Amino acid sequence: MKQEKLRKLLNDMSLEEKIGQLVQLSGEFYKANDISLGPQQKLGITQKIVDLSGSVLNVTGAKATKEVQDHQMSVQPHHIPMLFMADIIYGYKTVFPIPLGLGATWDPELVRKGFNIAADEGSAAGNHVSFAPMVDVVHDARWGRVLESPGEDPYLNSVFAKSMVEGFQDKLKDGAGQVACVKHFAGYGGVEAGREYNTVDMSISNLYQNYLPPYKAAVDAGSKMVMSSLTSLNGVPTTGDKWLLDDVLRKAWGFNGLIISDYASIYELIKHGFAKDETDAAHKALNATVDIDMKSPCYAKRLQELVTDGKLDETKIDEATWRVLLLKNELGLFEDPYRSVSEEREAKSILSDSKRKVARELADKALVLLQNKNGILPLKKDEKIALIGPYANEKLLLGMWAVHGDPNTSVTIAEGIKEIAGDNLKTAKGTDLIRDAHLLKEIGYFTDEEIDKMISSEKVEQKNNDEAVKIAQTADTIVLTLGESTLEAGEAGAKTKLTLPENQLHLIDRLSKLGKKIVLITISGRPLVLTNVVDKVDAIIEAWFPGTEGGHAIADILYGKVNPSGRLTMTFPYAVGQEPIYYNHLSTGRPQVGSQHVGRFVSKYLDAPVTPLYPFGYGLSYGSSEYKDLKLSSHKLTRNSSIKVKLTVKNTGGYDRREIVQLYIHDQVASIVQPVKRLIDFKAVKVPRGQTKEVEFEIKASELTFYDNLGRDYLENGDFDVFVGKSSADCLKETFELSE
Ligand code: NOJ
Repeated sequence: MKQEKLRKLLNDMSLEEKIGQLVQLSGEFYKANDISLGPQQKLGITQKIVDLSGSVLNVTGAKATKEVQDHQMSVQPHHIPMLFMADIIYGYKTVFPIPLGLGATWDPELVRKGFNIAADEGSAAGNHVSFAPMVDVVHDARWGRVLESPGEDPYLNSVFAKSMVEGFQDKLKDGAGQVACVKHFAGYGGVEAGREYNTVDMSISNLYQNYLPPYKAAVDAGSKMVMSSLTSLNGVPTTGDKWLLDDVLRKAWGFNGLIISDYASIYELIKHGFAKDETDAAHKALNATVDIDMKSPCYAKRLQELVTDGKLDETKIDEATWRVLLLKNELGLFEDPYRSVSEEREAKSILSDSKRKVARELADKALVLLQNKNGILPLKKDEKIALIGPYANEKLLLGMWAVHGDPNTSVTIAEGIKEIAGDNLKTAKGTDLIRDAHLLKEIGYFTDEEIDKMISSEKVEQKNNDEAVKIAQTADTIVLTLGESTLEAGEAGAKTKLTLPENQLHLIDRLSKLGKKIVLITISGRPLVLTNVVDKVDAIIEAWFPGTEGGHAIADILYGKVNPSGRLTMTFPYAVGQEPIYYNHLSTGRPQVGSQHVGRFVSKYLDAPVTPLYPFGYGLSYGSSEYKDLKLSSHKLTRNSSIKVKLTVKNTGGYDRREIVQLYIHDQVASIVQPVKRLIDFKAVKVPRGQTKEVEFEIKASELTFYDNLGRDYLENGDFDVFVGKSSADCLKETFELSE
């Protein structure tokens, strides 16, 4: 539609209709003509509001979206098509590894391909907007939502933010693809103590340096939507934060797309103690330039009275409505409200072989080999394998946020291994995944009867244990599949214990006494504390929630069909008490290493090391390699020049390898204390066995800036360390000086 016509449409709309465009309700309100009344009444939402609403949350599928579209367009005075929005976070039906695993691939191009696929399936299912990418920087493994983020590093999250946004939106112009909605703006990953929905309080320099860059990268990559977070930031709930949303996001960054609140977060301004009632909440959110109210009654019920009482200028509503109409127009919905969706297109699009292939490749690269004592991996085809654990035959490998995925389509670990090992494979459950009724109750989805069924009786548990020991005794190698349940990780999955549960540890203990080789595969949505198991098993593979092709990928790695190349993008702590722990922490006055003090009075713990069990950037591959001959083209850098950083990577083992060569810097002296290391670049380099490769980076002065506590960026002359290595804790080092 031409802009003048769109303007005319806006001018023709009543205030009530315009407000409707700013309201988003969820699927249960729109069973086409069969509107359910329960939640509607609770929110005080009238049928009129439902009919006038402009977008809907989590209704997917060609048939369902068409029905809702038809119904809504028929009841709206101007027959304005709806926007369909959904949580398609890391795949729709073809599900990839959780984003923390996608981060571990260090392969933004492949991730972009994955998001092309998600967008293809999502748009074929009638969906227009995906509530992703989530690029909150995450520092605390107690927080369940670390699962949704690529990790703890602002640079790496920015790289992935770009590839994910582009992956969603690449095909928008061709009438396919999906609109990206980057979230949760801003700083949600900094929730205190890792507790869900808790306060976020941080210095402005920290906010600008570490938390804002990934969202900014998403906006620069063209993300057409942004979601505010459920939390407050430095005392102001972000959904009502005019400084954050209007001054920073819109004015300073030039974002002119749609801002949507997170679920009920406008209403929750009242609970925060930031707004006195629904009217005040609606006023504050609209003033902060939030366009769409997701699942709260505030805009729907209160905006009109704010205008008629003269407290709010109608032009503010016009501006927000205009942005909604613009997006609908950009998607071509006025010409084709279904965007060529059909059940045939949908069926053809989802879970095609080529899509599964990408899911498998992503999972192959996402898995991280954490330990491989005596090179027990890869396994040999003819080894007798006892695959033990609650995940052995489990289809639930998709992770909590794959809400549209179908676990029945995923490849189990047993299925994956069986394709290679054939009759050499035996499986046993060994133990329950969770035997803690209180935890199951807190998870919130199960009735008492269901919980009773989920926890085996002592007798059955003993039998499961014994069977596992029995098949283990006749095997050459035990492959143990343990970890967290889907619902322990993800939103509202905060935990204070990060070790494997006692029943799983007990099983490890029993099996470790058999003197067999043991490979542990952990399925988890977060870094676990594995300190108490590393001595009891030979090899450990972190498999995250690996997605639809998880079982194949695990077998690929176990048998060396693929040499593991995943590297952690979130620190694995030695003890939960170290949390939050991240590699790019600031220098302290009394570091444990390098202080003039010795013994007690340094920054450390009395009962645990300060270092993690596995650092950021860490991961093993089969074989070995050597990084050497680090050289700088100059030890002086000026503001307009650059330095070349070169090193040699030698494959010294018997396997082809994919090396993730990481480049970090450290600003030795600055007017704001700087991180001990900061990733500024990386290269994934294939080094075939027996070969040596030269790897080269370029450092420019612009990569050395930092932010002060007014959010201004600085570049200060002085000495810098350059580190290049296999992980944040294993680097070669050089220095250079920055001058005018
Ligand atoms: C709440 C979550 O915080 C957000 O990430 C999600 O997109 C919305 N609910 C919609 O489901």
